[in-house]
Amino acid sequence: MSQKAIIFDLDGVIVDTAKFHFLAWKKLANDLGFDFTKEQNEELKGVSRVDSLKKILNWGNKELSEEEFNRQMQLKNENYLSYVNEMDKGEVLPGVQKVLDYLEENNIPYALGSASKNARHILEKIDLKDGFSAIVDGTDVSKAKPDPEVFLIAAEKLNVAPQKCIVFEDSVAGVQAANKGEMTSIGIGEEKTLQEADYIFNDFTEISIEFLKNLLQK
Ligand code: BG6
Ligand code: MG
Repeated sequence: MSQKAIIFDLDGVIVDTAKFHFLAWKKLANDLGFDFTKEQNEELKGVSRVDSLKKILNWGNKELSEEEFNRQMQLKNENYLSYVNEMDKGEVLPGVQKVLDYLEENNIPYALGSASKNARHILEKIDLKDGFSAIVDGTDVSKAKPDPEVFLIAAEKLNVAPQKCIVFEDSVAGVQAANKGEMTSIGIGEEKTLQEADYIFNDFTEISIEFLKNLLQK
């Protein structure tokens, strides 16, 4: 059982930071004179900071100089962090702690595989940093999801074969990355969005310990 390991995405899986990303990107767009919808925001999930800004500017038909692009990215991140800095353990999504407790009680290693450069800071805010055997985030990778790099580095750090890793992901790009890495993918969110995942749940409250046990024993 111990040869298997779990890799968690962070945003949208452990915490609902998507709402803060949305507010911060929306302010940026509004300051530049345009807007985008919640539906469009779905397309930003799992997407790196640089690629998110490129997409948003495309929606608003805006072009920025390199200097202004970098300045806007920094402003967005400062705004985003003003929300993150208010976070505490209460922000951990329902059902997540139960799964982490089970993994710890059974000595099953787990890692983080996130696109965010703020991941370590967020884990500290919600007091979960110490439980992770490995943390791989946006500062450790050169290729963004759907490339499997982030998860493959996590598997290597865990010293577990990719085929033995189970990935929890809320984004399409993340599910694709897990699949490309030959890992078992568990989508957290809507079935119509995450159909490429091996298993799909609306949230962690729907995941039973029985299900986890079976998956880890397979
Ligand atoms: C992903 C989020 O986890 O991290 C994206 O789903 C975000 O919305 C990306 O753009 C990068 O995050 P950050 O914190 O480095 O801007
Ligand atoms: Mg996510």
